[in-house]
Amino acid sequence: DWNMPDYITEAVEAIRNQVGSDEVILGLSGGVDSSVAAALIHRAIGDQLTCVFVDHGLLRLDEGQMVMNMFGKNLGVKVIHVDATEQFMGKLAGVSDPEAKRKIIGREFVEVFQAEAGKLKNAKWLAQGTIYPDVIESAGKGKKTAHTIKSHHNVGGLPETLNLKLLEPLRELFKDEVRELGVALGLPHDMVYRHPFPGPGLGVRILGEVKKEYADLLRRADAIFIEELRNTKDEDGKSWYDKTSQAFAVFLPVKSVGVMGDGRTYEYVTALRAVQTQDFMTAHWAHLPHELLGRVSNRIINEVRGLNRVVYDISGKPPATIEWE
Ligand code: XMP
Repeated sequence: DWNMPDYITEAVEAIRNQVGSDEVILGLSGGVDSSVAAALIHRAIGDQLTCVFVDHGLLRLDEGQMVMNMFGKNLGVKVIHVDATEQFMGKLAGVSDPEAKRKIIGREFVEVFQAEAGKLKNAKWLAQGTIYPDVIESAGKGKKTAHTIKSHHNVGGLPETLNLKLLEPLRELFKDEVRELGVALGLPHDMVYRHPFPGPGLGVRILGEVKKEYADLLRRADAIFIEELRNTKDEDGKSWYDKTSQAFAVFLPVKSVGVMGDGRTYEYVTALRAVQTQDFMTAHWAHLPHELLGRVSNRIINEVRGLNRVVYDISGKPPATIEWE
C-alpha cells in the first residue's frame, strides 16, 4: 500500500545512498515531473543539487519568475536561471517548418543546458523527472503512436555527451502518485495539478516563424484565458481549468480587419484551444460555456493591443492534434 511519509523517507534514503557526497544537476522546466524530482532530491541532498532553468523566450507569462520564486526563494533550492531568449530567437529567425522549429529548439536547449552543466565541474549525476509511463513509452519505441509523429524534445541524449550518471527517482511512479508526492513535499497544489506544457513551449503555438513580438502577444492572451478558466466554476463547483486537460491560446500570423472607436484596426488573430482527454492520444474539444468564451474574447481584444479577433477551435483529436504544430 502507498503510504506517502514512508515513501518519502525511503526515497530520500535511496537517493542519499546512490549519490553519496556527489553533486547533482537537474534541468528544471517548471513542469510537474521535473519540479517534483527537484523537490525530492533537494529534500535528500540539499545543496548538493543544482537546478538549471533555461528560459528559451517561449514560456508562459511570468513563468520564469514563478519558478525562481518557488524553488529559489520558497524552497531554498540552488537554481541557475539562464535567459537564452536572444539565442533561441536568433536561431529560429526565418524558420517556419514545424519539425525544423522543434529540432532547433531541442538542439539549442541541449546546448544551453550543456554549457551550464559544464560550468559545474564537480557534477557527477544528471537528475531527470522520468516517470513510469515515460519508461514504458521509450521501451515501446518504434511503435507508430501519436507521440512518435512529432519529435518530442526532452533532455534525452545528454548523459552520453556529459559523462554523467542518471538519477531518476520518479521512475516507478504514475502521474497521480507524482502529484501526491509533490504536494507532500510542499509544492503548491495549483502547480502540481497544472495542465501539461510542451518542451518547445510557445514555439509550437506560434504558427510559422517565431518572433518575440508574437510571443509577447500570445503570452498575454494565454494568461487571460487561463485566468478566466481558473476563476469560472461549473455547476458542480469545479473550475473549468480543472475540468479541462489542456487549454491554451495559439497565435495566428494572419491579420484581419476590425473596428475600435471610430477607427479601423488591422491586427492578428488568436485561437483558443481547450480539450478533455484521458491519455492525450485522443481528445475532445471542451464545451466551454459561451459566457466564459465571450468574457475571454472581450478581455483579450480590449487588453491586448495587436489582437483584434478571437476564434475557438472545435476540432477533435484525431484528426487534429492538440497542439497546432
Ligand atoms: P499533440 O499535439 O501531439 O500533443 O496532440 C499531445 C500532447 O503532447 C504534448 N506535446 C509535447 N510535449 N514536447 C513535449 O514535451 C513536444 O514536442 C510536444 N508536442 C506535443 C502536447 O502539449 C499534448 O499534451
